[in-house]
Amino acid sequence: MVMLTESQRDDWIRQGFLVLPDFVPVASCHALSEHVASLLAAIDPSDDTTHSVFSTTEQSHANDDWFLESGDKVRWFFEDGAFVNGHLTAPLPTVINKLGHAMHDLDPIFSQFSRTQELAELASELGFTNPLLLQSMYIFKQPTIGGEVVCHTDHTFLWTEPQSVVGFWFALEDATVDNGCLWAIPGGHHIPVKRRFRRDGHGGTTNDIFDNAPYPEAQGVPLEVPAGTLIALHGTLPHWSAPNTSDRSRHAYTLHVIDGDADYLSDNWLQRSSTLPLRGFVG
Ligand code: FE2
Repeated sequence: MVMLTESQRDDWIRQGFLVLPDFVPVASCHALSEHVASLLAAIDPSDDTTHSVFSTTEQSHANDDWFLESGDKVRWFFEDGAFVNGHLTAPLPTVINKLGHAMHDLDPIFSQFSRTQELAELASELGFTNPLLLQSMYIFKQPTIGGEVVCHTDHTFLWTEPQSVVGFWFALEDATVDNGCLWAIPGGHHIPVKRRFRRDGHGGTTNDIFDNAPYPEAQGVPLEVPAGTLIALHGTLPHWSAPNTSDRSRHAYTLHVIDGDADYLSDNWLQRSSTLPLRGFVG
């Protein structure tokens, strides 16, 4: 089955992203969110080994074991300011930042959402020959406190040779400029990647900087989309999201897929146990 029109294929090649409204029924988006609410209810906030704050503007998170060991687990991360002296400052569901990074393999509901015929066909049309589902994240983007995600490319974090990662970003709720929708630089995937984030071999992480000049963010466009929309992002496309300044959440689910025919580097931050090998859309 051919899913994409000629002009959508052109958009993908020219812009490096693709916006596909109504890719997922809104009822399925709600069902995933309700499932996540039940997962949050099972978290014990008094366990301070889990008090990891997700921030793309500070490096501390990048070196904590809770994050570095999460590649083959279901773990949770908090907004900055979620804890004072080890105690939650607000109910947990209102200060959680995201879940990651292997729900698609460990949680049947996430697996079902991630392994659809439609997504498998789309991946094939985007050029995958051996797609492997590498990373999943459920992002809450909380009202008024949802933090920014600074401009980056996904290849920086999920490096394969040759480059192969594609991000599939599902809007589970309407995403607007006010509540922190995605922004991207059309055609920016043609800019050589400027940074690689990797393990440093000593229990931490480091960045290889190839080009210190910033991306031309002024050329960015907001990708305002209704719930149920899928946005596909080329792995070298610069993209970001601003803080959520509104009183509405902006839940999203992201799935990062690599090609099994490419080489996934052994010093990438995300590593999986041999007991949980990467799988494709089927099986
Ligand atoms: Fe990203």
